[in-house]
Amino acid sequence: MTRILPLLTGAAVLSAALLSTGAQARTLKEIKASGTIKIGTNAEFKPFTYFEGKTMKGFEYDLGNAIAKQMGVKAEWINQPFDGLLIGLNQNRFDLVISSHGITPERAKAVDFSLPHYCSGGLIVSRPGGPKTAADLKGKTVATQVGTTYVDQIKKVTGEKNLRVYPNNANALQALMSGRVDAMVNEKFYGLEALKLNGKKLQQGEMMFQEKLAMAVAKGNSTLLSAVNQNLKTVQANGTYAKISKSYFGQDVRCK
Ligand code: ARG
Repeated sequence: MTRILPLLTGAAVLSAALLSTGAQARTLKEIKASGTIKIGTNAEFKPFTYFEGKTMKGFEYDLGNAIAKQMGVKAEWINQPFDGLLIGLNQNRFDLVISSHGITPERAKAVDFSLPHYCSGGLIVSRPGGPKTAADLKGKTVATQVGTTYVDQIKKVTGEKNLRVYPNNANALQALMSGRVDAMVNEKFYGLEALKLNGKKLQQGEMMFQEKLAMAVAKGNSTLLSAVNQNLKTVQANGTYAKISKSYFGQDVRCK
């Protein structure tokens, strides 16, 4: 698996798959008429979207529902592997993706991003005695999830050879816990959650980079994009956003 998956992260493969679309995205009017907005996410990313039993929860889950409510529609959440989300969006399998996508020029060629709904970055996590800084990662094996912005950041430091990509974050974390890799780079709050759950078995390293995280609509779906942006601004102005953010992170994570 670790030998096949790096191929899927290649930018050329990604953009080819992303751009091959014939499906017509639903306009805001069509979504409103149907009464439901379909939102794609990868719900194994606590505290952003995740399952507790059969119930989806999380910061992005609550935020997406708040935005849908502003739009006067119900949110229908669709759980998918992370690396298929933007492809699924362009195949019209959902109207909106909310799954902590960093805004990158590569992705912005294929989809349209909303205003950032939070700011964060990549955090290094290791076992006690393991690497804590980007410089420490040199020559060490590092785990992360396939298709993420962390892949490129890790490659820059360790080279392709020492990168280990996993389909899920849980697999990457498991690889770290069991000693199959030296470190994991992941979203800061996912890393902090792993640290909270695993006590002294893990240690916190430094932030490797910062990014702006945004929601995505199909390329050119301008009516939906402006409604999403407008409603994000509304929930950020009326206290809803701050309340949701504080309940998951103890702080307001909007971009300053
Ligand atoms: N922020 C990273 C990226 O943009 C990772 C996001 C992973 N999200 C998830 N729901 N698993 O690629």
